[in-house]
Amino acid sequence: MEIRIERTTTPKAKPTGALGFGKIFTDHMFEMDYNPEQGWHDPRITPYHDLVLSPACVVFHYAQEMFEGMKAYKDAEGKVRLFRPMKNIERLNATNERMCIPKIDPMDALQAIKETVLTDADWIPTEPGTSLYIRPFIIATDVGLGVHPSKNYKFCIILAPSGSYYAGGLAPVKIVVEDEYVRAVKGGTGFAKVGGNYAASLIGQQKAEKMGYAQVLWLDGIEHKYIDEVGAMNVFFVIDGKVITPQLEGNILPGVTRDSTIQYLRGKGYEVEERRISIQEVYDAAKDGTLNEMFGTGTAAVISPVGELNWDGNKVIINNNEIGAISQMLYDDITGIQYGKKEDPFGWSMVL
Ligand code: COI
Repeated sequence: MEIRIERTTTPKAKPTGALGFGKIFTDHMFEMDYNPEQGWHDPRITPYHDLVLSPACVVFHYAQEMFEGMKAYKDAEGKVRLFRPMKNIERLNATNERMCIPKIDPMDALQAIKETVLTDADWIPTEPGTSLYIRPFIIATDVGLGVHPSKNYKFCIILAPSGSYYAGGLAPVKIVVEDEYVRAVKGGTGFAKVGGNYAASLIGQQKAEKMGYAQVLWLDGIEHKYIDEVGAMNVFFVIDGKVITPQLEGNILPGVTRDSTIQYLRGKGYEVEERRISIQEVYDAAKDGTLNEMFGTGTAAVISPVGELNWDGNKVIINNNEIGAISQMLYDDITGIQYGKKEDPFGWSMVL
């Protein structure tokens, strides 16, 4: 694929000070369009710009869209690295299939990500804990209000130099269990990376924030009994030395950091169970003192220890609200691989 590059003539000043997450965008972006005659065509890197779209576009009304999240890192030698990009591209196409969006050739998607990142490589921050967050997304651009899959689409990639997702970095977060609203059910779009899942979660997130909690722990949509995931991350529990995470049943996101955590821990000899885990089991473990740790995993959140869980007013403090040993090891080793600082036994880090 030949990508046309139009460089900006008015580069922006690079940020100084705290970056936050997803607040600042680089000088360039990637764009490519789809129509049934030409397929995906006209790949281009252009100066970062607003999109001009008809107010009748399908994406605005019926949410036919998808997105991905990944990161680029600069190592000590100044080389640019991605972490398991083909896993994100595989998930991008799985989401596309669910959303009736035409698939993108995986090698074209990789090339688009690489070239866009390299065009703005001087925007990759190097302070500890920072990276260049990559947000690929696709929107349906047909004009009209009939409910049908669109015939035309736009694929974009934007880049945001970012710090940690939570303001407190690796400090344990407080999570509240949501047992009124649900995020997704089996057969729906829970496993896909679509804005609609996050839109459905906002009411719970708003409730949580009002109560002073960082995020919501979602329970299954049928019995409100089994744990699904947290707002922006998959979730793990360490009970009596055993690591447990909800199994992929179609309603939770198959996270790349989730998969890496499972493989990494199994490689280290830990017993990791992917199975249904009820909120009652977690509370029972907390009561009998066997709930050693709880943490979330995600591209944005990396490894995020949970220090407090609130289920209908019943609060449990986990590991004295301190970072657990497994959470700390995972954070150090996975980020070590991502930044090219540690041995990479799985070959996850890709140097561009
Ligand atoms: C990511 O971890 O990349 C995500 O997409 C979560 C996001 C909704 C902040």
